[in-house]
Amino acid sequence: MGLEDSPPRINLCCLPTPIHRLDRLTDKLRTEIWIKRDDLTGFALGGNKGRKLEYLIPDALKCGANAIVTCGALQSNFVRQLGAACSMFGIECHACVMSLPFEGDPPSGEGLSQDSGNVLLDKVFNVKLYKYPDGTWDELYSLTDNLAHDLEKAGKTVYKVPIGGSSTLGAHSFVLAAREAMAQIPTGFDYVVSPSSSGSTQVGLHMGFAGQSKVVGIAADPEPDLVQDFADLSRKVAEQDQELKAVEVHEFDLRLGYVGKGYSVLDDKTLSVIQMVAREEGLLLDPVYSGKAMVGLLDLISKKELEGRILFWHTGGIPTVFSIQGWQ
Ligand SMILES: Cc1ncc(COP(=O)(O)O)c(C=O)c1O
Repeated sequence: MGLEDSPPRINLCCLPTPIHRLDRLTDKLRTEIWIKRDDLTGFALGGNKGRKLEYLIPDALKCGANAIVTCGALQSNFVRQLGAACSMFGIECHACVMSLPFEGDPPSGEGLSQDSGNVLLDKVFNVKLYKYPDGTWDELYSLTDNLAHDLEKAGKTVYKVPIGGSSTLGAHSFVLAAREAMAQIPTGFDYVVSPSSSGSTQVGLHMGFAGQSKVVGIAADPEPDLVQDFADLSRKVAEQDQELKAVEVHEFDLRLGYVGKGYSVLDDKTLSVIQMVAREEGLLLDPVYSGKAMVGLLDLISKKELEGRILFWHTGGIPTVFSIQGWQ
């Protein structure tokens, strides 16, 4: 039996999300561009994480969890949606966060404001945020382990969710998302382009679109080793679903060149592309993921590295638009 039949699922999202052609961008770029509207998954203001939570929450309930622990950037979209799902099921949501976690050296540049956007919504959804000074991702992970340990010592049954919901269940939800898109537009696409960070979105899309469309991830983090984690995750997904083939490191197409000054650091290029798309198509992109991914998409088209029919996977993140500082 494939993984598709097995894991319990709850309905959180409005699926299938729409797919449509971006007519004005298509004319402007002379390349056919379509969009998959996962910004419209609907759950707690939408985004890609709702799909993952449809599987993660039942797994937490199966484990008898009364507290979920995760981590992320302060303006994490995952934490916002996880908080919403946890409140629905009477589970406490605890999240360790840093404003601008980094790999290697700290980034220079401005991030998002600290009290609006997802941070505001986290309060509405009763998320317990533990804010730490900026440090490396590894430091954030070990603080999160400590928190989980403390909660267990205090008698809670803790379910730990990896950053961004990137477990096998998270990736599985994106294998199904790829199939959803293929059923909507059976003529298919040459390329599917999506923002990429913790990896289960790109891993799931790559496995789901295998043999149909090439999947290109545009990285939100400047971490060249990420593809190793993607390959490990893909192997675990394939172990649980024999119909799927594991993806090797060299098969992932993850572009690191559009991160700007760092993860979640704002840059002028991204802000101007967000404005251009808003004014051409009436469509909002976010400054951390989909905005940077659109910068990548436009650049790769201009270099003719992407040609033919392209599907841009909009993964959401809209609340952070309201946290952009110094918007002109
Ligand atoms: C809006 C948005 N887009 C894309 C991503 C990247 O997805 P993933 O973490 O599955 O790579 C995230 C999460 O990190 C996100 O919040």
